[in-house]
Amino acid sequence: MTTNEHNIAPPYVEQAEIRRQCSLCDAIEQKLFSMGFSEANRPGYFIQTFGCQQNEADSERMAGLAWRMGYRPVATPAAAQLILVNTCAIREHAEKKALSIIGTYKHIKEASAHVIIGVGGCMVTQKHRADQLKNSYPYVDFAFDTGALHLLPELIYHAMTGGRRQFVSSDTYAVAEGLPSHREKPFKAWLSIMYGCNNFCSYCIVPYVRGRERSRRPEAILEEARRLIAEGAKDITLLGQNVNSYGKDIGSVDIASLMRQICALPGDFRLRFMTSHPKDASDALIAAMAEEEKIVPHFHLPVQSGSDEVLRRMNRRYSAEQYLCIIEKLRRSVPDVSITSDIIVGFPGETQADFQATLDLIKAVRYDAIFSFIYSPRKGTPAAAMDGQIPKEISSQRFQRLLSLQQEISRERNQRFVGRTVRALCEEVSKTDPGKMTARGDSPRPIHFADTGARIGEYCDLKIVSADTFSLYGELQEKKNGA
Ligand code: 5AD
Ligand code: SF4
Repeated sequence: MTTNEHNIAPPYVEQAEIRRQCSLCDAIEQKLFSMGFSEANRPGYFIQTFGCQQNEADSERMAGLAWRMGYRPVATPAAAQLILVNTCAIREHAEKKALSIIGTYKHIKEASAHVIIGVGGCMVTQKHRADQLKNSYPYVDFAFDTGALHLLPELIYHAMTGGRRQFVSSDTYAVAEGLPSHREKPFKAWLSIMYGCNNFCSYCIVPYVRGRERSRRPEAILEEARRLIAEGAKDITLLGQNVNSYGKDIGSVDIASLMRQICALPGDFRLRFMTSHPKDASDALIAAMAEEEKIVPHFHLPVQSGSDEVLRRMNRRYSAEQYLCIIEKLRRSVPDVSITSDIIVGFPGETQADFQATLDLIKAVRYDAIFSFIYSPRKGTPAAAMDGQIPKEISSQRFQRLLSLQQEISRERNQRFVGRTVRALCEEVSKTDPGKMTARGDSPRPIHFADTGARIGEYCDLKIVSADTFSLYGELQEKKNGA
């Protein structure tokens, strides 16, 4: 157990436990080999991920453990000996999708009883969903909540050796250091700096399924950042439900100083962070963004609503005016900053005037992009029990109005890049046009350009020639690194 000057200790998992899990990985590999698999013929794993970047980062740890056990990734669940589903609970739609996918795995298990199926993540951290899995999905071998990810080897070993089905719920929400991780793109990395949330926004399930805020120790984060950079990471995103309150539970360090320490590490990389809560968006963080070249000038600062009354009932603890002050400060310090937001429409009791206040705020801020959601009642949250639940037709109409207003603003905002030459990281062959590549620069929008020799995973200079609502279009200016 590690403590600090305030003698507050997040529940770090002891290294001895991680070593125990690692020796189970070895035992699993042995077992797989005894079943006929070999170095040349590895068993396959398939991980289906729902939800946010935090879940993607968790899935990378599940993948890291699966590699450690001797599994290798396969493209379809039907080709896998190990299937893991990492679920999300943020809206009902995400839960329904996960349950329906899990339903399709029944046939796989019927065809091959040796296939192991495990379900993790936020959905199964809710008791009613864990019970549902237990009772209605008998082919699921085990479920593990968000605090029990490090126990995956034990659960798999147990399932392999004919143990009973297991449904693990951890009430400690421990921070496990030293788990292996496997990233699909070595140049792009998620780096979790903290877990959980203390804010209890009245609509949100996260504090109930990811526990209270626990910060990782800065030394562990810096060590991981160093390793990621050495492995070729060029785009690192610091992750947490509310990264602005990083360090408050352990004292001695805050998000701004942590980011500055990471920026001081040698290497050609850029640093992003998400998500931020406006009540904690500090001047020190804005100053770090203004001064540190490696920090991408993009601030994702979810406002949720433009109505003070709705914000109050959401328990957001700021007013629209206070939010606009932060935006003004941000733009003054970082004039070219890209700003994005999350918006919920149809929160209980939202009147037409409340909704108009949201539209007005969006016009005032002129976001680069927003992620908008129709309010979804979550069992156990205060908002689910509030009067004035909004009928779906009204929420959908408001949602459409919001989208079309934002699309107009995004199209206009994106024009500011036209004519500039920007440095961008070439990420992949375009999903829609195989003759094109897709890169990402400082703007949250992807840049598409004709493939004339840029290399995936390397920086290139692109002259932006046009922009529409969702994308920028560029021309490659020069080849980097002798490509
Ligand atoms: N319904 C709709 N959207 C929600 N979000 C969180 N909880 C809900 C809910 N119950 C949205 C918020 C948050 C984003 C990640 O998801 O906008 O910022
Ligand atoms: Fe949910 Fe609010 Fe925490 Fe974000 S800050 S995870 S919306 S409770």
